[in-house]
Amino acid sequence: MNAKQPLNQQGRAPYSGTIKNFSKERYISSDWYGREWRTVWSKSWIAAVHVSDLQTPGDYTVFDLGSESVLLSCDAKGQVQAFYNVCQHRGVRLVNDHHGNTDTFRCPYHSWRYGNDGQLTYAPHQDGFQQGLPLQKICLPKVRCEQALGFYWINLDAEASPLEDFLKDMLPLMAHYEFENMTLVQDQTVSINCNWKAVLDNFSELYHVHYLHPQHRRFVDCTESLSECYEGGHTRVWVPGAKTDSLFSTPDKPTDLLSMQLQSLGLDPEAFAGRVDEVQAAIRVAKRALEAQEPYYRNFSDEELTDVIQTNVFPNAIMTYQPEMLWLMRLRPHAADPNQCYLDKLSFERFPNSEEQRFLEGTDDLQEKRSERATQHGRPEWESFDYSDVIAGNASMTDTIDQDLSLLAHAQRGMHSEGFQQCWLNEMESRVSHFHEQLESLVKAGD
Ligand code: FES
Ligand SMILES: [Fe+2]
Repeated sequence: MNAKQPLNQQGRAPYSGTIKNFSKERYISSDWYGREWRTVWSKSWIAAVHVSDLQTPGDYTVFDLGSESVLLSCDAKGQVQAFYNVCQHRGVRLVNDHHGNTDTFRCPYHSWRYGNDGQLTYAPHQDGFQQGLPLQKICLPKVRCEQALGFYWINLDAEASPLEDFLKDMLPLMAHYEFENMTLVQDQTVSINCNWKAVLDNFSELYHVHYLHPQHRRFVDCTESLSECYEGGHTRVWVPGAKTDSLFSTPDKPTDLLSMQLQSLGLDPEAFAGRVDEVQAAIRVAKRALEAQEPYYRNFSDEELTDVIQTNVFPNAIMTYQPEMLWLMRLRPHAADPNQCYLDKLSFERFPNSEEQRFLEGTDDLQEKRSERATQHGRPEWESFDYSDVIAGNASMTDTIDQDLSLLAHAQRGMHSEGFQQCWLNEMESRVSHFHEQLESLVKAGD
């Protein structure tokens, strides 16, 4: 499979594409929200569930998208299918929990029962249906469901082209990270009082990083990042890691986060005093040496061994990854209100056991959090909370995302102000612009 070249790139060079400003309507208008649902959400492939959640016959997961709810189920033969999560008797939502394992879905209302292949198997007082009740003909309506990059993806459009076509430029960028072999270690959802695109925009540019996330300069070089735009509204940014930000002077000693990375690979941070610009190369050499016991490392270029890559799959998946980890951050629209949305963050690790961890990245107290998780068996619990819980300090999605959420809490009020009419986009927001161009073309084509 050959990766198509990106349409546009922009590192230190000027952006070769066109950046267009746009009006605020798409963030606040109910009319736009309806058009967006019909043309984008109802027709796009959406990463719904990691393969590990649907491995054993009987496993199921409920995935809500706007006003729809989709039930993904692994049947007795191990086949995974997706269905509209709605009882065919009188339309009650069939399954209300997040995930589990069962051979029968029983409607809580009048106890109609369905197998995990979606087939209706039993209805009480069957003789009383004067027009008949052909059990074998009644099945939960199917939703398209296909597998790629370690996830089951769903599409509400029965006529959609295959997932592989949709992801054709994205698969070669990510397949070798083997997300299917990563383990889910945390599963969080936060509800936010702003439009889903304001959150996506936030995670599509590094313009704000120096100001909102000063801690990043201690372990990644956002100044040297490379942004890329692909056909179909997909984008990618490549951020050099295991170094400090080149906009600022190099520190005399490795920062706390670089020290943590060095130590995890058996290197002494003290030895890099006065040589901090050699840390990245040393980490690459140390990881390359791991190939002998862990052939997985052969999948990667030297740059991929240290750098952080984020690929946004249109419309709503933000995949941030290194060889040892993946975050799937995923936006979901509210059922009816353009002023609200949900952000899911699913965290995965390639080496979930603490003894196996080759490398640690992230926030100051990550090591502690990871060892807590390493003691858990089975799937982590789904945690669901409101952005106000994060601002109050009662829930966290890492320091960085908490900082983003505290800012986004004010975004929607600003958008509604008469004093704000349109966004002005900088070249550093090229990925924001590219996403919106695709969104706008789909929404307008549906008019
Ligand atoms: S609505 Fe489900 S059994 Fe009646
Ligand atoms: Fe941010």
